[in-house]
Amino acid sequence: MQASELRIGIVGTGFGQQTARVFQAHPRTRVTAICGRDPDRTAAVAAELAIPYTFTDYHEMISTAPIDAVAVVTPPHIHRPVAEAAISRGKHVLCQKPLAESVESARAMRDMATTSGIVHGMDQQFRTMPATLCLKDLLEEGAIGRPHSAVEQIHIDVWGYYAYRGGSPSKSAWFTEPTGGGFLLALGWVWDRQLFLFGPARSVTGSTRIAIPEATLADGTRVRTNAPDSTHAHVEFWSGLTLITQLAPARWGQHRTRLEILGDEGALLLSGPASAPVLQYAAVTDANYRTLTIPERYQPSDLPPGVDAGAFTIADRFVRAVIDGEPMSPSFDDALRTQELIQAIARSDETGTRQELSSGIHAGPPS
Ligand SMILES: NC(=O)c1ccc[n+]([C@@H]2O[C@H](COP(=O)([O-])OP(=O)(O)OC[C@H]3O[C@@H](n4cnc5c(N)ncnc54)[C@H](OP(=O)(O)O)[C@@H]3O)[C@@H](O)[C@H]2O)c1
Repeated sequence: MQASELRIGIVGTGFGQQTARVFQAHPRTRVTAICGRDPDRTAAVAAELAIPYTFTDYHEMISTAPIDAVAVVTPPHIHRPVAEAAISRGKHVLCQKPLAESVESARAMRDMATTSGIVHGMDQQFRTMPATLCLKDLLEEGAIGRPHSAVEQIHIDVWGYYAYRGGSPSKSAWFTEPTGGGFLLALGWVWDRQLFLFGPARSVTGSTRIAIPEATLADGTRVRTNAPDSTHAHVEFWSGLTLITQLAPARWGQHRTRLEILGDEGALLLSGPASAPVLQYAAVTDANYRTLTIPERYQPSDLPPGVDAGAFTIADRFVRAVIDGEPMSPSFDDALRTQELIQAIARSDETGTRQELSSGIHAGPPS
């Protein structure tokens, strides 16, 4: 692409607002259009963010708005139709996590994007946070020797989630409808980050549950939970690492995360609020962890104040992929691997059996 500026159209006015702010902060992008179903809400968001064109039909936005790329920020089961509409018009696509509601949809999207030659990227800002990038390098440099065991805990403030007033009124369907996917899908970033850090998965045993059967929405309505709000998984990676994951509701007032990795020469711990984790290290001879300062090189250059570093890095990679022809990572290929892992966890719960991932794109150890 020859142009020096990328024009973005956003579908979704919930988290889509954060996406718009990140692209507006980038010197090489302009957000020219936004789409939501509710015309008043969409107009209000567009006015607040000074986005010139508004739509309530994404087909119309994609075919008429002055845009080069589409950011898909709708609930997961709407990702596929929006992405397919965008790709069929030759627009580049940056999609929120998870790529889709099923492996079948994710594969169809990946295949269509690859065949068409557009740039396809995943907005997975948790894998590009400075602390995560630093952790990945430390693992690869052998800072803890051979990583053999890990535990990840994600404590979700489901009460705050339900009572959140900034999201779309339809957001509760993620939990009230069995097809909504619950937190197994909604926290697609957890599984993506695990595959990013530890490489392809070999097999998984998982269980999904509803821990909090009723919830109160922001308007005071009581609803029943019909999709999983908790998941436990035991994943074996081709690298030889075993990972136990607990994803469960807890009243911390925000999501909290804890990822502890043990190696034969030390341990690493990434913990704290999901949006601002702290990285710690202990050698085998240390009694306690010590906090690491994340080197400046992991911060994106030219990061505007108040903008999330991980999200800015993804936006920047997307811009460079479209305008400068650089490779995009993470892409829909990465997302398909994540979707396979998510589906294998669900299938393990349904069947009560361990699921092998070796027949799909997880086959074989990392090259
Ligand atoms: N990376 C992160 O940290 C992060 C955080 C939160 C969410 N997300 C991701 O962002 C995506 C959206 O989540 P959210 O929290 O923003 O959900 P949300 O609050 O439910 O908002 C969804 C938006 O999509 C719009 N929408 C739904 N169906 C549509 C359709 N058929 N045509 C046009 N617009 C449609 C809704 O419009 P109406 O409001 O008019 O119904 C709403 O604006 C999900 O993929 C989620 O996983 C990522």
